[in-house]
Amino acid sequence: MTDQVRSLADEVSAAVSAAMAAALPVELAGEDPLVRRSDRADFQSNVALSLAKRVGQAPRDLAATLSDHVSTAPFVASVEVSGPGFLNIILSDTVLLERLSARLEDPHLGVSRTQESQRVVVDYSGPNVAKEMHVGHLRSTLIGDALVRILGHLGAEVVRQNHVGDWGTQFGMLIQHIFEHPEQPWRSADVEQALTGTAVSALDALYRAARARFDADPAFKERAQQRVVALQAGDDETVSAWREIVAESEEAFQRIYKRLGVLLTPDDVAGESFYNPRLQDVVDELRTKGVLVESEGALCVFFDDVRGPDDKPTPLLVQKRDGGFGYAATDLAAIRYRTQELKANRLLYVVDARQSQHFDMVFRTAARAGWLTDSVEPVHVQNGTINGPDGRPFKTRSGGTVRLADLLDDALRRAREVVAEKDPSVSADLLDATAEIASVGAVKYAELSTSRTRDYAFDVSRMVSFSGQTGVYLQYTHTRIASILRKAHEAAADDYRFLPGLTLQPAERELALLLDEFSATLNAVASTLEPHRLAGYLYELATAYTYFYESCPVLKADSAEVRANRLALCRLTGATLAQGLGLLGITAPSRM
Ligand code: ARG
Repeated sequence: MTDQVRSLADEVSAAVSAAMAAALPVELAGEDPLVRRSDRADFQSNVALSLAKRVGQAPRDLAATLSDHVSTAPFVASVEVSGPGFLNIILSDTVLLERLSARLEDPHLGVSRTQESQRVVVDYSGPNVAKEMHVGHLRSTLIGDALVRILGHLGAEVVRQNHVGDWGTQFGMLIQHIFEHPEQPWRSADVEQALTGTAVSALDALYRAARARFDADPAFKERAQQRVVALQAGDDETVSAWREIVAESEEAFQRIYKRLGVLLTPDDVAGESFYNPRLQDVVDELRTKGVLVESEGALCVFFDDVRGPDDKPTPLLVQKRDGGFGYAATDLAAIRYRTQELKANRLLYVVDARQSQHFDMVFRTAARAGWLTDSVEPVHVQNGTINGPDGRPFKTRSGGTVRLADLLDDALRRAREVVAEKDPSVSADLLDATAEIASVGAVKYAELSTSRTRDYAFDVSRMVSFSGQTGVYLQYTHTRIASILRKAHEAAADDYRFLPGLTLQPAERELALLLDEFSATLNAVASTLEPHRLAGYLYELATAYTYFYESCPVLKADSAEVRANRLALCRLTGATLAQGLGLLGITAPSRM
């Protein structure tokens, strides 16, 4: 594993910690050095104020002692004790500019590849066959895709797994209903003319009709159950209907992935049916190892601390009394496959937080079975719920689930309005292209800038806006940087270089220090699995650029050196924004 290149912020913290180790009693030396960015200096630490009493010194005296140590660090220009005992730390412009210069020369922008020894399975999206992909699947799909990109960029070997819900007793019901109602169209070739929706909308409707009959009509229920037996026994006619249903659904999922610019392909699908041939073997192994307990005819796993409201232990149901396997058995087979065959050492499950008990029990069962060694880390990367704009559960007016495709259409319409309003003279072609890029970017950024465990409201008009913390604002900032670089080029004045020796203006320092944080930010996402850290960082970067642009003339700078240095700042900011947005799966256009 490559060691991480520390950001200057980390270096400053380390220098204050080292000063503490030299100057303080051993039991205080390990305290947090309390380093923050500051308006008065590059960084400020108030550790002397917080520890003075315990050391038995006046805060200013303690600060002076620490300051003597910190000022010896090679990247520090000066340290000043201010007010009641703050340490104000100013960095060397030369060191700052040298670091930026190295980043600009590196196509990887100085990002440390800390994940090189990792093989990571990312299980994400996981929509269900014969059902519309709805807004609930959006979060897993977008968060998972960002993690795949970021971990891969940091050197991990990433294996995408789309755990599609393509197997189960519900298919008996659906297929039986379809056989009994051949007049109801559902194949895409038939429904394109008959309905405005897709094959999956038709299947979704048939599925609901089948469910209603199943609940109301005992004779149908009986036939549906026999159909499950036929499916499991491999009956030709039944299996071929199932295959067709799966194929129609997967095509619809791929259309959505393509529209969203998500990396998932048909090769990444390892759905529930993929594990079907392995389930018996998994159960046998669990049984031999004494992990399973028989309870009312079913095979279960129990945990002392997992109990229902009645205080009875809640089991993980592995095999039902009738011999059928469920969701848990499939996930146990998947975890064994991912560790033993895919040889992953990190298993990520980007799935709704409401499944946390399921994953907790699956992970613990796998550990009991010996499938998880110390070198394998399973993580349920939980996500919260998306609500409607009113903050309540997201439903259509008639109470149905909201189709993802409809939401994207909505965002696209809104983006066209906003783009046309910003530039009424925009050409039709550019409007089309921009609205597409802006709407998808807006939806993705709204998702990825929210902490993944929080619930949020899907509010298209807030997402698609040129101002505020939005994807459109970030894309727009990128186009402004691209535009200034074009102008420099046209004026044959595009010499760009970081020139150690220059004195930086406050807005330049602010931007420079942020650029220095890119690698640390990406690596923080890799360890916390929280893409919103990157999304938030990019917004800060765009804001700092805007401030820089307003306060520091670039093309009309006072000297050729200052212009070259500012153009280098523009370039590195543009490249960092483009790469950072790209890692969130968001396009960074040059014009819009
Ligand atoms: N199909 C499931 C659902 O819609 C998600 C699958 C998540 N992945 C897994 N390995 N269980 O809830």
